[in-house]
Amino acid sequence: SSVSSDKATQETPSYACQRRTPLHHHNKEIVDALQILALSASFQGSEARYLGFTRAASVLKCLPFTLQSAEEVKDLQFCGGHSKTVIQEILEDRVCREVEMVKNSEHYQSMKVLTGIFGVGIRTADKWYRDGIRSLSDLNEIEGKLTGEQKAGLLHYTDLQQPVTRDEAERVEQLVKGALQSFVPDVQVTMTGGFRRGKQEGHDVDFLITHPNEEALNGLLRKAVAWLDSKGSILYHHIKGRSHNFARSSTMDGHETCYAIFALPNACPEKSPDAGTIQPDLDKSPPRNWKAVRVDLVVAPYSEYSYALLGWTGSKHFERELRRFSLQVKKMSLNSHGLFDIEKKCHYPATSEEEIFAHLGLLYLTPSERNA
Ligand code: CTP
Ligand code: MN
Ligand code: MN
Ligand code: MN
Repeated sequence: SSVSSDKATQETPSYACQRRTPLHHHNKEIVDALQILALSASFQGSEARYLGFTRAASVLKCLPFTLQSAEEVKDLQFCGGHSKTVIQEILEDRVCREVEMVKNSEHYQSMKVLTGIFGVGIRTADKWYRDGIRSLSDLNEIEGKLTGEQKAGLLHYTDLQQPVTRDEAERVEQLVKGALQSFVPDVQVTMTGGFRRGKQEGHDVDFLITHPNEEALNGLLRKAVAWLDSKGSILYHHIKGRSHNFARSSTMDGHETCYAIFALPNACPEKSPDAGTIQPDLDKSPPRNWKAVRVDLVVAPYSEYSYALLGWTGSKHFERELRRFSLQVKKMSLNSHGLFDIEKKCHYPATSEEEIFAHLGLLYLTPSERNA
């Protein structure tokens, strides 16, 4: 009957793709705690617990007010009992014992470091953990067993741990556009991922590449990457070719993709008033004038562009919910290539993201409302 419990009982649509999730919200402390528990669950291979905590965190991101009393938590929708207990404990004691235990656990800490390496997933990290590996230095002993991707990830670990700023992302964009346009002047390049959702920093920079004439895209990614490589802009890359015979399932995306580490030159320093002053060079080693930055480049044929744009804009949880909604509510299979109606056995072409939301009977959400 109180005002706050009325706020909490407001209808929340059950799928994250049915609600607006802004980047900034009112319950950061609690969301961070639930996301730590979600990550820990995924490190333990528990997909169900990962989803439970992720969904609860995602619901809190949409709340238009800051939770203040344990009483308000009772009526929260789509929050499991475990998540509710965690939230109530934080509201009452400022901390949750389970979260503190997870943060201090050796498995969680090692898994966080190991999965932070480019090319290392949860399975690999957990196998290493069971083999006694705890830290980056332990990996020197099995250096011969690392993939090329993992070696590069280890080599540039410190740089890649630093968030990529929007300014850096825009300088990567100039590099990428320059390379692609030297082969196809009117190629279309769009920054996707977190930066398109309005984030000010990210773990990488994602781009989607297309052109109305599909012929123009043939071999373009390889040529542009080789060109950048020849200029010394690329520290590591591997290209996954387009898979033509992929099953149009909701889990398989087959666009030509380049996973790369760029050597991004530092921004030109602003001329300072004492720019002409001679500085004694005490440190003999020259300062490094570049930073390693993770970059994903994806090529989509024009006819699939809107689906690829929707699929590569994220967030990951938003994408997952969108595909779950499509399948469960609409009996349609959605991926980065298209939308297939399972009952009518037909595909729905789309020339914009708005059209795809309309095909699904969903209210259109702008990229900045997809931070689920
Ligand atoms: N994605 C994908 N296939 C992959 C990797 C990523 O379809 N093999 C999609 C993800 O679903 C996500 C988007 O690409 O929606 C961006 O992924 P990622 O760069 O990992 O995350 P961001 O949201 O950009 O966050 P960050 O700032 O940490 O990079
Ligand atoms: Mn990204
Ligand atoms: Mn990415
Ligand atoms: Mn993909």
